[in-house]
Amino acid sequence: MVLVARNLSKHYTMGASVVRALDDVSLTVAEGEFVGLLGTSGSGKSTLLNLIAGLDQATAGELLVFGDDLAKMSSETLSRHRQKNVGIIFQSFNLISTMTAAENVALSMMFAGVPRAERERSASDLLTAVGLGGRQTHRPKELSGGEQQRVAIARALSNTPRLLLADEPTGNLDSRTSKEIMALLKDLNERDGKTVIMVTHDADLAKRYAHRIITMLDGKVLSEVTA
Ligand SMILES: Nc1ncnc2c1ncn2[C@@H]1O[C@H](COP(=O)(O)OP(=O)(O)OP(=O)(O)O)[C@@H](O)[C@H]1O
Ligand SMILES: [Mg+2]
Repeated sequence: MVLVARNLSKHYTMGASVVRALDDVSLTVAEGEFVGLLGTSGSGKSTLLNLIAGLDQATAGELLVFGDDLAKMSSETLSRHRQKNVGIIFQSFNLISTMTAAENVALSMMFAGVPRAERERSASDLLTAVGLGGRQTHRPKELSGGEQQRVAIARALSNTPRLLLADEPTGNLDSRTSKEIMALLKDLNERDGKTVIMVTHDADLAKRYAHRIITMLDGKVLSEVTA
């Protein structure tokens, strides 16, 4: 299993009240699945994704990613998990504006200790693979939204993670560009065998691409439907 969550909770104490961002969630995701995570605003989708990514820590419960319990990891092991096991794609691309496309893609390889020549070659190959071979030295402001998201996807792939987490990856894109980005994610899932967990507000999009749709409400799993 790529992912096993057992009674996973993330609570925030705000003065006298407790926000149950994630409340006793149990679910599993198998290798090679494409899972759509649906739910209204505030239902806990990003909270769940951030826990899986190791960007945040659960309040209670168990979260195994590739068999390792994230709650039991030292901060060092957790940062290795973030670097090696998961690729993260956000709605707002989150590229570094002063760096070129190739530099953005190569950055996390630098943190992972990959030698310069190798990271430059990999970054170039990854940009070519997402259809941006001719945009290596462009900076984010010189790229369209869809192109910026492609750079972000290339960056997410840079340390060859088996799990891709995407939080509203097409939320800022028009419908045609969204289709291109979805085709790219579908390809990464089907051709390269990447497991994909994608948050979206768009039920039609989820139905079209996901093998399974998990719908959340108030921090809980409301339903799970196999497509
Ligand atoms: N750092 C925080 N402190 C307190 N409450 C938080 C914090 N982060 C999230 N929450 C609360 O947790 C709940 C779930 O938030 P989350 O961001 O996971 O929702 P979401 O499903 O991703 O929503 P959206 O579709 O709007 O992105 C919300 O009620 C939110 O206000
Ligand atoms: Mg969110």
